[in-house]
Amino acid sequence: MDGNGRWAAARGLPRREGHRRGVEALRNAVRAAGELGIKVLTIYSFSAENWTRPAEEIGDLMALLKRFVRNDLAELHGNGVRVRVIGERSGLEPEVLALITEAEQLTRANDKLTLVVAFNYGGRQEIAAAARKIAEAAAAGRLDPASVDVAAFERYLDTAGLPDPDLIIRTSGELRISNFLLWQGAYAEFVFLPMHWPDFDRAALESAIDEFRRRERRFGGLKAGTGS
Ligand code: FPP
Repeated sequence: MDGNGRWAAARGLPRREGHRRGVEALRNAVRAAGELGIKVLTIYSFSAENWTRPAEEIGDLMALLKRFVRNDLAELHGNGVRVRVIGERSGLEPEVLALITEAEQLTRANDKLTLVVAFNYGGRQEIAAAARKIAEAAAAGRLDPASVDVAAFERYLDTAGLPDPDLIIRTSGELRISNFLLWQGAYAEFVFLPMHWPDFDRAALESAIDEFRRRERRFGGLKAGTGS
């Protein structure tokens, strides 16, 4: 969801207004994803690196997350959305932690759409944490090191049990992955859009999906059915 700040700057507005409009775009994206039959939607809402931003902006982003959960949780739940949060939880303010837990608990049996919120998330941090847990289990004799393969490793990631992303969309023209789903995105298709996140709407999501459909996915193999 990149480009909130630039969207605001281009209109002479404070960055906070860009983030506020970003939440509206998020709300629309979740609705559109549900209508289009998407089963899992992951949003990068606060990265492990975002703590380097000014305290005022961090405060604004935390306030937006809290407001989002308070205002939207009932509607999400009513629409069959299951909320799951990935990222490092230690160090988050107790109020944020309580809201995250409430959202996950309330919606845990829903299955129309899983909304994965990457919050205080970093792909490298997630992989390092998984390696640490595996090392601890091996040191305690609970895990045979020889059993650690790709499938076993995935069970220690925050995304355990979720499918890999098919499509990763980044707005605002940057051609980077920025520590997002590094492991899980190994074979994802990427669509980079020039628009800033607050301008992202259902039409943008549909055109990204159209682009995805035109891609030929080989997962390291050969083109299906042709032998070439
Ligand atoms: C990127 O724009 C966006 C973010 C760092 C935060 C996105 C967060 C929200 C839309 C709202 C909070 C989260 C939830 C779950 C409600 P940027 O600030 O990097 O923009 P810039 O690159 O143009 O400065």
